[in-house]
Amino acid sequence: MIQRSERTALVTGATDGVGRLVAAQLAADGWRVLVHGRNRERGEGLVREIEQRGGSAAFLAADLASLDQVRGLAAAVVDATDRLDLLINNAGIGTVGGAPGRQTSADGHELRFAVNYLAGFLLTRLLLPLVKASAPSRIVNVSSAGQQAIDFSDVMLTRHYSGSAAYCQSKLAQILFTIDLARELAGSGVTVNALHPSTYMNTTMVRQSGMTPVSRVEDGAEAILNLAVGATVEGRSGLYFNVRREARANGQAYDAAAQARLRTLSLELTGLADKPLRA
Ligand SMILES: NC(=O)c1ccc[n+]([C@@H]2O[C@H](COP(=O)([O-])OP(=O)(O)OC[C@H]3O[C@@H](n4cnc5c(N)ncnc54)[C@H](OP(=O)(O)O)[C@@H]3O)[C@@H](O)[C@H]2O)c1
Repeated sequence: MIQRSERTALVTGATDGVGRLVAAQLAADGWRVLVHGRNRERGEGLVREIEQRGGSAAFLAADLASLDQVRGLAAAVVDATDRLDLLINNAGIGTVGGAPGRQTSADGHELRFAVNYLAGFLLTRLLLPLVKASAPSRIVNVSSAGQQAIDFSDVMLTRHYSGSAAYCQSKLAQILFTIDLARELAGSGVTVNALHPSTYMNTTMVRQSGMTPVSRVEDGAEAILNLAVGATVEGRSGLYFNVRREARANGQAYDAAAQARLRTLSLELTGLADKPLRA
């Protein structure tokens, strides 16, 4: 069990790309870091690197394409620490990669909606009691400038699928969730913000999509850390940042009816609908 005195962060998708750098940087700054990923070898490799530099970390494995594994991850976090000052929902999959065409999660949901949004929604909701008990604390949702309004008549994209539509609606869903949750958490000492970390960073996701990287992973890590630990956003919540600048997201993000509709759907899809939201 981690001592109460240790500021603790969970970074999802910390086995690669910008999440890996953010986790390493937090550890270098004295945070105890819970490194999440699918790949045990790479996750444990990062933990070893952090420890060799005198830092403190632990690896927690979970495939976010399975809601059962998301529940297992939340339980593992609660087992590993009695405080969670920072939750960074960073794990994600891009527009292509893996099999072409529509893919589904272990639960039968459209894969990008499931991994990029729904897993983070469930993980956040399950960890909220711990995050609240650790206040002042922060939640950061790593979204994207690639955003597309959710078509509530075809959220799982069974009719008009494209990898780009799947990615962009999942990224906007994260922002609707951010703004909705910020309203719920007002006065709790927990802030929640979302961002586009940087455009076409040199990561696996971008290389797989065939795009030429135009920004550095370091740029994205700085932008994420600005929301995660930056003094200028202290106490501020429900915001969307384009890299380090506060910005306006797709208009649907600010539509309270759309937020409520997504919340209701997400509670149903994750099996939380029948459970009280506040622990
Ligand atoms: N790169 C960009 O230019 C860019 C631009 C805008 C937004 N973003 C966002 O930034 C975040 C990080 O992206 P990145 O560019 O750093 O991508 P990346 O290098 O491909 O890393 C993605 C991370 O997410 C993990 N992940 C993917 N699917 C998972 C699953 N089913 N279960 C558990 N973990 C899973 C990956 O694990 P594995 O190592 O096992 O694959 C990896 O650790 C994403 O949310 C992305 O949408 C990136």
